[in-house]
Amino acid sequence: MVALILGIESSCDETAAALVEDGTRVVSNVVASQLDVHARWGGVVPELASREHLRAIVPVVREALNGCRPDAVAVTEGPGLAGSLLVGITYAKALALAWSKPLIAVNHIEGHVHAVVMEHRADLRFPALALVVSGGHTHLFELDPEFRLRLLGRTRDDAAGEAYDKVAKLLGFGYPGGPVVDRLAKFGDPRAVKFTAPNMKGNPLDFSFSGIKTAVLRWSQERDLAAEIAARRALLSARSRPTDEEWLAVTPRETLDLLASFQRSVIADLLDHVEQARRATGARSAIVTGGVSANAGLREAAQRLRLPAYFPQRALSTDNAVMIAAAAFPKFERRDFADSTLRAKVSLAL
Ligand code: KG4
Ligand code: ZN
Repeated sequence: MVALILGIESSCDETAAALVEDGTRVVSNVVASQLDVHARWGGVVPELASREHLRAIVPVVREALNGCRPDAVAVTEGPGLAGSLLVGITYAKALALAWSKPLIAVNHIEGHVHAVVMEHRADLRFPALALVVSGGHTHLFELDPEFRLRLLGRTRDDAAGEAYDKVAKLLGFGYPGGPVVDRLAKFGDPRAVKFTAPNMKGNPLDFSFSGIKTAVLRWSQERDLAAEIAARRALLSARSRPTDEEWLAVTPRETLDLLASFQRSVIADLLDHVEQARRATGARSAIVTGGVSANAGLREAAQRLRLPAYFPQRALSTDNAVMIAAAAFPKFERRDFADSTLRAKVSLAL
């Protein structure tokens, strides 16, 4: 069945729309990022996010459609910020109604998984694992050949991306933290600072990142970092996207060592969970997806896993609507449609 699906994603701080044919062929992919709006607050401000979504949704969808009329409208129903989700859901409902086309509700986390499935369906060996690591989630699933997800473990406190963001904010590197820490980590010594691995009582496949964040806070309090942090904040207010050289000029080696050690420790912890899950389930391949899957150190280290690991294209690592349209395709085939009672589900589980 040939199907052209419009995906709409507005769960956090990106307003995104995309057209995808048959769950695999990307016809258009538009993402309006709100990074510059939230950067000065050091994190996503929900009120500002919904206002920006309202501003962006019509032009973003119009650009993605480019005059086309899709066969269905897919939208993220959750998890995410209520006011942000509502903008996408309301607009998706209106379009589906106006065009008399089916409406399809997609779970955001399932979307991240499909960002990889759409490209690597033929490579995956089952059972497979899916590690979803972003600013809002750190979940490890087992994936069956029908792409159903069974939760193996999840974070009990901060998500991995959230730990990156909090550490970066604390040290004056701005928001979001992942990309800048990733870039600067390669200039430091990853063995300089030792972090103790969290002791997970109960489910060993659960995650915890609040300990390492606190360790970084303590590290910073033991030193007088006021001057370097002030210099970085000044750099950020002068330049919205500083280059590596500009960051290096305001970041002493000791801080670079800290960033490298933090990154190494987070990556080791994530991949250690994948290895433990491999042993527990007999998994034969893995998917790593979500914003943190853009991380260069993680991509490199994953090559040493004892199973093949597949990542999304960089552009599909962070939030986008291609993944929503791709995840909607199997639902379209099953005629698994939503109706006008669809609501935003802030803490939608899988
Ligand atoms: O998937 P995403 O766009 O939004 C959520 O669903 O949360 O993920 C955003 C998160 C942020 O926490 C950001 O710091 C992190 O992904 N991130 C990274 C990198 N690029 C983005 N974390 C580590 N390394 C990166 N290169
Ligand atoms: Zn996401």
